[in-house]
Amino acid sequence: MSTKAFPERVRIVEVGPRDGLQNEKSPVSTAIKLGLIEGLANAGLSVIEATAFVSPKWVPQMADAAAVMAGLPLRTGLRYPVLTPNLKGFEAALAAGAKEVAIFTAASETFCEKNTNCSIDESFARFAPIMAAARDAGVAVRGYVSCVLGCPFEGDIALDRVLAVSERLLAIDCYEVSLGDTIGVGTPGSTARLFDSLCARIPADKLAGHFHDTWGQALPNILTSLGYGIATFDSSVAGLGGCPYSPGASGNVATEDVVYMLNGLGIETGVSLDALVDTAAFISDALGRAPASRVARAALARRLRQAGE
Ligand code: HMG
Ligand code: MG
Repeated sequence: MSTKAFPERVRIVEVGPRDGLQNEKSPVSTAIKLGLIEGLANAGLSVIEATAFVSPKWVPQMADAAAVMAGLPLRTGLRYPVLTPNLKGFEAALAAGAKEVAIFTAASETFCEKNTNCSIDESFARFAPIMAAARDAGVAVRGYVSCVLGCPFEGDIALDRVLAVSERLLAIDCYEVSLGDTIGVGTPGSTARLFDSLCARIPADKLAGHFHDTWGQALPNILTSLGYGIATFDSSVAGLGGCPYSPGASGNVATEDVVYMLNGLGIETGVSLDALVDTAAFISDALGRAPASRVARAALARRLRQAGE
């Protein structure tokens, strides 16, 4: 594969504090979440999805959204988008100081129903007042499409459905569409077919890749996306995560794995791998398990060996 068309720089959207933690069974304290975010900011991540203003009955782990917002480390250039499914969530996010939000829908009707209790059309009806309020408040809005490479309920998803929902999100003024392989079933082949379809109609700089690593294909899928000029990827430190409404889905691709691969390709991210591994160790210790990231595990094992020499 030629790497000539690859972007020189990639923007990583760190989703660990939100996508990573939303599915944790035991409560994670606000202090641990803020420690995680501080570590990520220190590692050089400049876009950190901090939390979600969703129903606490649906996702109890995000019930402390306002408290997380109140404790965020504020530094120039740092952005903290938050998820908002409806106007109620948007208003709460705005009151908590959010400057950027993300709305989310799906290319699968069944997933949309299970995740947000509404059809795809109804999700757009909920977005209309959010977009109007965001415009008034000068808040940037990102759009997510779930199930772009497969649905846990419907199986294969037609490419024209992904295209239609993505174009609809851009038409209502989302600045970018993040394409969720929610259950991590995509392969480089299906990823290439997806971008063959989307990039014929949508500029690559309006698209981002959001790959879960359930079937171990996330890095090859990112490599494939780079060939289409995609330069924004969502990832989660230590490979944390999974969607509560997506049975069998595991974590996002690990940020350490993405940064290690991009470093090897000479692509800039602005992220320090060493500091990221420290943060992976911090959150993994707090959750009482080893990082899912192969790179973090290898780096931590090497540190142990070097300390024993
Ligand atoms: P609903 O039950 O249909 O909503 O849920 P409702 O409007 O009928 O309200 C029911 C109750 O929820 C009411 O409270 C509302 O006040 C409250 P009650 O009167 O019963 O006490 N409520 C809220 N509370 C706090 N914040 C809100 C809010 N809205 C209503 N924003 C709703 C609809 C969308 C709220 C619900 O389904 C929900 O919260 N879903 C969130 C699901 C979620 O967070 N999923 C994970 C994130 S998406 C994801 O992970 C995929 C992604 O990573 C990409 C990928 O990988 O594919 C982005
Ligand atoms: Mg996700």
